[in-house]
Amino acid sequence: MLPLYREHHFTFRFAEDRRVPRFHLEGVRAGHRVTVFALDGDTGDRRGVLAKATAGDGGWVDLSEPLVVRAGTGFVAVPVPTVAVRDETPEDIEAVRRVNRLAFGRDDEAALVDALRHGGYFRASLIAEVEGRVVGHVLFSDLPILTTTGPVPALALAPVAVLPDYQHLGVGSELVRRGLDVCRERGHGIVVVLGHPRFYSRFGFSTALASRLSSPFSGKEYFMALALVSGALDGVEGRIEYPSPFGRWV
Ligand SMILES: CC(C)(COP(=O)(O)OP(=O)(O)OC[C@H]1O[C@@H](n2cnc3c(N)ncnc32)[C@H](O)[C@@H]1OP(=O)(O)O)[C@@H](O)C(=O)NCCC(=O)NCCS
Repeated sequence: MLPLYREHHFTFRFAEDRRVPRFHLEGVRAGHRVTVFALDGDTGDRRGVLAKATAGDGGWVDLSEPLVVRAGTGFVAVPVPTVAVRDETPEDIEAVRRVNRLAFGRDDEAALVDALRHGGYFRASLIAEVEGRVVGHVLFSDLPILTTTGPVPALALAPVAVLPDYQHLGVGSELVRRGLDVCRERGHGIVVVLGHPRFYSRFGFSTALASRLSSPFSGKEYFMALALVSGALDGVEGRIEYPSPFGRWV
């Protein structure tokens, strides 16, 4: 079983039904994390995530459950790349547009980012690079909570985007984690997000923390908040008004 190695991906194809408990990745060091995707036998495209594992001695990857592979199909093993996260610079603006367009498959989020940039709402705009290529982007923008005693500063996390070929490799998580650290370092205390609870709960976002914030999304499971510093949301009750760049969504 010799995998076809191309651009850091290892593709395994099988002529007959197989159960695969382990496989070998030439040149991959022990301890390196690997995401395993199903391979579409007809198109050669990657499908859903089959497993996540860690390479052992000599590049052997032992799976907790054997993969069950049908004849004519296979799987793609992708070693998790090293990701560098840094602030966006003016030279990155086109790459940021491209990442958002390709990740979402439409122009809307790239346009939202541009509108928030031009409106002066940016507080942290970070990009993820793999081998010098921009593969991901996350934006935090100003979104104060309007309370009876005045506005309480808060940030919106939106959007976060990773190029399709780099998804499910930990890039999005690294961007959000590093982004939250940067926001905390810059003195911010509260972040609000609209997104999938399965993805955002790992960073501490919760619907419960957003329960006293009124917005067009109040009560929805995908409307979540996070306190970057302990107690930042204590006693905060108020209204969120998304600024005009969000107009199409709210
Ligand atoms: C969502 C997104 C940013 C995550 O980035 P990523 O690099 O793939 O994320 P990670 O590898 O760190 O984490 C992957 C996990 O996130 C969750 N996840 C990823 N995409 C998801 C989605 N569309 N819905 C729900 N959960 C999702 C899953 O739990 C996934 O785990 P898995 O890899 O075992 O399937 C990326 O998939 C993306 O750009 N998607 C298209 C744009 C988008 O939907 N952005 C989020 C809304 S603002």
